[in-house]
Amino acid sequence: ASILVLHGPNLNLLGTREPGLYGATGLEDINRQLTERCRELEHHLLCLQSNAEYELIERIHEARGEGVDFIIINPAAFTHTSVALRDALLAVDIPFIEVHLSNVYKREPFRHTSYFSDIAEGVICGLGADGYQLALTAALARCKS
Ligand code: DQA
Repeated sequence: ASILVLHGPNLNLLGTREPGLYGATGLEDINRQLTERCRELEHHLLCLQSNAEYELIERIHEARGEGVDFIIINPAAFTHTSVALRDALLAVDIPFIEVHLSNVYKREPFRHTSYFSDIAEGVICGLGADGYQLALTAALARCKS
């Protein structure tokens, strides 16, 4: 299967950004662990982090033509703001899992609303970097090849 992992704004700073909330693991480590696991299982993993909404949208559009089977996305702050990203995921009709490192429900009320959760296959939050591994397990289990 072909899995696309998308990381939204400020996640390039993982490891140094509010480590009490987001953990000490950097984004490269997260991507490396996911890539290695996919390689071992003979699946294909693609990753993109962007601070720009339009880049994430364009990457989602490209995913359809590339035959991406499943998307794992942490939309970061766009979770709470982006109708455009939501519409992109609906447009390509690729199933996805929403991941958050922190437990957004323990945090400010504005983080309790998501433009993605009601259209996601599933949502994982509050489990730190482990959440991406759990999402990959679930995504692969839902892919045919
Ligand atoms: C986040 C939670 C969001 O509220 C926040 O804006 C982020 C990261 C998380 O992974 O916990 O940037 O998506």
